[in-house]
Amino acid sequence: MDNPHYRVACLLDVQPETEDTSSYLFVLEDGGDFQFSPGQFNMLGLPGTEEAAISFSSLAAAGSGRFTHTIRRVGNVTRLIGELEIGQRVMVRGPFGRGWPIEQAVGCDVLLVAGGLGLAPLRPFLLYMLENRGQIRNLVLIFGARTLDDMIFQIDLARWQEQDEISTIYCVDHLTRESNLRLRTGLVTRFMDGLDLDPRNTLACICGPEIMMRFVARNLALQGYRQDRIYLSMERRMRCGTAHCGHCQIGAKFVCQDGPVFSYPDIARFADTAL
Ligand SMILES: Cc1cc2nc3c(=O)[nH]c(=O)nc-3n(C[C@H](O)[C@H](O)[C@H](O)COP(=O)(O)OP(=O)(O)OC[C@H]3O[C@@H](n4cnc5c(N)ncnc54)[C@H](O)[C@@H]3O)c2cc1C
Ligand code: FES
Repeated sequence: MDNPHYRVACLLDVQPETEDTSSYLFVLEDGGDFQFSPGQFNMLGLPGTEEAAISFSSLAAAGSGRFTHTIRRVGNVTRLIGELEIGQRVMVRGPFGRGWPIEQAVGCDVLLVAGGLGLAPLRPFLLYMLENRGQIRNLVLIFGARTLDDMIFQIDLARWQEQDEISTIYCVDHLTRESNLRLRTGLVTRFMDGLDLDPRNTLACICGPEIMMRFVARNLALQGYRQDRIYLSMERRMRCGTAHCGHCQIGAKFVCQDGPVFSYPDIARFADTAL
């Protein structure tokens, strides 16, 4: 590990989401509090491994020291986390980065567009908006995944689609089987016209594969949505998490410190993005 300033957290519960992705509830072993904002992330590690940057998929629970990460098992750290038993420990550094601009949502319509695992960092933002629903105008979630089996948070998705406080559009590339979720077939960009939103007064937050974020942001800009109110969350390989090692740099920006959430105009000008 690069930085010794870590805390130890115990695994309390595991909720499988898809074949390769689960949500892990942790609690800090020192009994301390843990405050973080939607869109921020932790660096998680185990003895003898590098660390992996992982977003919070829950809201901070004041005074409890509890937090949830939704993790796809793709490599060294994430596979080992997937093998943890309840009660076993991880090392945690964080919270890091700048999250979603929650304060900008007040008095506005809010549009969230997520692709695949990109719903994980948007989930706490959405939960916050639902808890503070009176502060914003219309709230729309568009969520796309390859198939139903790739959709995380299906319990939340089912609840949200029945709630009057939020409009939902769920879409899959391929409809493989029946579900209680109302699913449409096609990419998220296919369902972005004619939304009940005021383009000049909407905060749009996007998270997913970079190529998907590119098409969504461009589509919104073409429809007249204000570009400075379009935000996206960028992923880059990370090491220090503190703007020292340069691993996560995009142009002059450090994703770990200046991001991971950036405004579209702030990040699209750098050639080393697909935006
Ligand atoms: C801000 C931020 C938030 C994130 N949030 C989440 C989240 O909420 N949930 C989540 O699951 N992930 C998240 N990620 C992604 C996660 O950090 C990466 O998937 C991380 O690499 C996983 O670490 P690992 O050690 O398990 O995998 P690694 O061992 O790093 O491997 C990851 C993948 O990269 C490939 N790989 C490994 N080394 C190399 C190399 N040298 N060159 C090319 N490819 C290589 C592997 O084959 C594998 O497919 C986030 C990333 C960022 C930056
Ligand atoms: S991870 Fe080291 S500079 Fe961002």
